[in-house]
Amino acid sequence: MRKPLIIANWKMNKTISETEQYAQEFLRLIDDTEQLDLVICPPFTGLEKLKAVCKEQVNLGAQNMFWEVSGAYTGEISADMLLSCGCSYVILGHSERRQLFNENNYIINSKLRIAIEKNLIPVLCVGETLQQRENKLAYDVIREQLREGLAGLEPPGRWAVAYEPVWAIGTGVNAHPDDAQTMAMFIRSELGMLNKALYDYTRILYGGSVTENNAADFFAQADIDGALVGGASLNAATFVNIIRKYNY
Ligand code: PGA
Repeated sequence: MRKPLIIANWKMNKTISETEQYAQEFLRLIDDTEQLDLVICPPFTGLEKLKAVCKEQVNLGAQNMFWEVSGAYTGEISADMLLSCGCSYVILGHSERRQLFNENNYIINSKLRIAIEKNLIPVLCVGETLQQRENKLAYDVIREQLREGLAGLEPPGRWAVAYEPVWAIGTGVNAHPDDAQTMAMFIRSELGMLNKALYDYTRILYGGSVTENNAADFFAQADIDGALVGGASLNAATFVNIIRKYNY
């Protein structure tokens, strides 16, 4: 059985005091969620505060990480640094990293390799742009992101792939849940071709304009095991409402 996974991606939002406020409200509202893995990914500066307030109630994740273990890499952050802040998850290959910071599948593969070596649970983001979708290239793009991203690697049992169509991120235009399911099924079968075990154990998430109103429709899909939530995770009450849509 794949344990459902719901991740908040705050992106570049919230100072330390805003993080503290959020964490306190989140703790007040959240129910017992043993059936789910819950992860919050604040900016790096919020990790310690979130850990201090939430303790074991949530898992901490990072939004990015560098592929070397240490050294002269100004502005970067290492796996060991994230582990020392209490992180157990790391989002890799988010489309904003791919588009704004020129991350390609080769770079993402190097980051995944280090995450796996260091026992951080990777969440690999894949997804097509609107232009690629209109040109009927969505499946080819995602196959390539998976094959090149995972080349030579064996991801751990609790890892995840997030299907995040670029045109749905932060736009308020979510994928249709049936289409997201079709893509999740495609991702699962592609993973199965790379390594039979991945077919069963990989958790596949949907991300892109997930809200309280549409979350249940995604969670109801057979191959979707949770969500990666951006904008709607910035408000603690809204994020808790999304979590409650999971039928646990
Ligand atoms: P969104 O972002 O929920 O604001 O669309 C999702 C993401 O980028 O992970």
